[in-house]
Amino acid sequence: MSTSTNEFHVIMVGAGFAMFGTPEGPWNIAKRAEAKLGERLKVDAVIEVDPKRAEAALKIKSEGPHKSSYENTVILPSVAEFKKLVDQGKAPEPRAIFVATPPTVRGSTLPGKDLEIQLNRAFPNVAIFFEKPVATGKPWEESVGEALKVSEYLKANHKAPISIGYVLRYLKIVQQVKKIIEENNLTVMATNARFVVAYELAVKTDWWNKDIQLGPVIEQATHICDLVRFLGGEIDFNTISAHALEAHEKPGQLSKKNFDESVIPDHLRIPRATSASWKYESGAVGIFLHSTALHGTDYEVQLEVYADGYSFVLQNIFGTSKAPELLVRRPGSDEFEKTVTPGDDAYQTEMNHFIDAIEGGAEPEIFSSYEDAAKTYEMTWVIRNSAENANSKIKEQKGGKSYKLW
Ligand SMILES: NC(=O)c1ccc[n+]([C@@H]2O[C@H](COP(=O)([O-])OP(=O)(O)OC[C@H]3O[C@@H](n4cnc5c(N)ncnc54)[C@H](O)[C@@H]3O)[C@@H](O)[C@H]2O)c1
Repeated sequence: MSTSTNEFHVIMVGAGFAMFGTPEGPWNIAKRAEAKLGERLKVDAVIEVDPKRAEAALKIKSEGPHKSSYENTVILPSVAEFKKLVDQGKAPEPRAIFVATPPTVRGSTLPGKDLEIQLNRAFPNVAIFFEKPVATGKPWEESVGEALKVSEYLKANHKAPISIGYVLRYLKIVQQVKKIIEENNLTVMATNARFVVAYELAVKTDWWNKDIQLGPVIEQATHICDLVRFLGGEIDFNTISAHALEAHEKPGQLSKKNFDESVIPDHLRIPRATSASWKYESGAVGIFLHSTALHGTDYEVQLEVYADGYSFVLQNIFGTSKAPELLVRRPGSDEFEKTVTPGDDAYQTEMNHFIDAIEGGAEPEIFSSYEDAAKTYEMTWVIRNSAENANSKIKEQKGGKSYKLW
């Protein structure tokens, strides 16, 4: 099928919050594609297993400023159905595919969870953006092993760029730290990462059930785990040691939940806080905290990075109302230089780099590969396992009292 050469045809897989936006946070793939491509953007299909969700999203688009991008969008239940249209000459081969399904249907070679392989078989020459994490599956050894297999498969078979949505890598302050580390040949000595969530607007019950979305370390703190790997280097996962504050423990009681947690059995409720520490392969050390502690809307996500003579403090990493901020202390001074980056939209930068990688544009670097993202997935599972094992040991040491009694 011939199209105007200037048009940029895409398909979108999954019509949920990450694809079309939510009041909970700034994520919204469609909005960033519209901003980067303007009228060039042509969304030929939304692939969605729940067509009502896609219809609702497209209705809003049909009344909005970018309606021309969605004029010919069809809603289909699978990638295979769209491939048929392409083969019949009824739709052009897309230049990009955006994937924001739950990770339960991807990150594996097993049928029903093998979206990457289905996409590769249908469109081996088309660039793909996948939301993080690359997978969420159980049992954990199998799921991590499968994600690594998919990584190998894509490396061998996919002929176009692949980008994973570890968006924090694209923040200006993160790039600035990376640059200072590289330019000064620094070796990171220590990192201290905190991801504290404002949970009031987290209303999806599945998110609060660690049997379904596997808990906030795997589903959410994955962002900061990925960032410490990006800035601190590879972590020796064997050294990870973690603890969790569970939902039934007294400090874990939450007063501002806007969903019904009673439908989730106690042992499947997500921990309210998880702390962890580790050694990097270099010998450096790292510490970490994730917690669902805050009300309101802004998350508090902070990272400190230390190297000989240097301190980097990255603040408001995930804030919506406050701008990301970097404090840098260098050799020769006890003072911090402060950089504030109002309006820095890492989601937009991530999108711009992805499209530039496809079109040979000005900023074609992709900072998160599938292989790298699969390692972050492994790391988050190790933190969860370590915390759960530690709690089981504590329970045993308390004389085998039943779960509910303490
Ligand atoms: N980068 C970020 O900051 C960020 C923010 C939010 C979510 N995410 C990630 O985006 C992904 C999606 O999250 P969400 O909040 O949009 O979830 P969601 O549940 O709101 O939306 C996912 C949609 O995918 C659809 N779907 C399920 N299986 C499908 C399949 N096989 N084919 C097509 N559609 C399918 C569902 O029906 C649903 O409408 C998750 O991996 C999540 O971690 C990333």
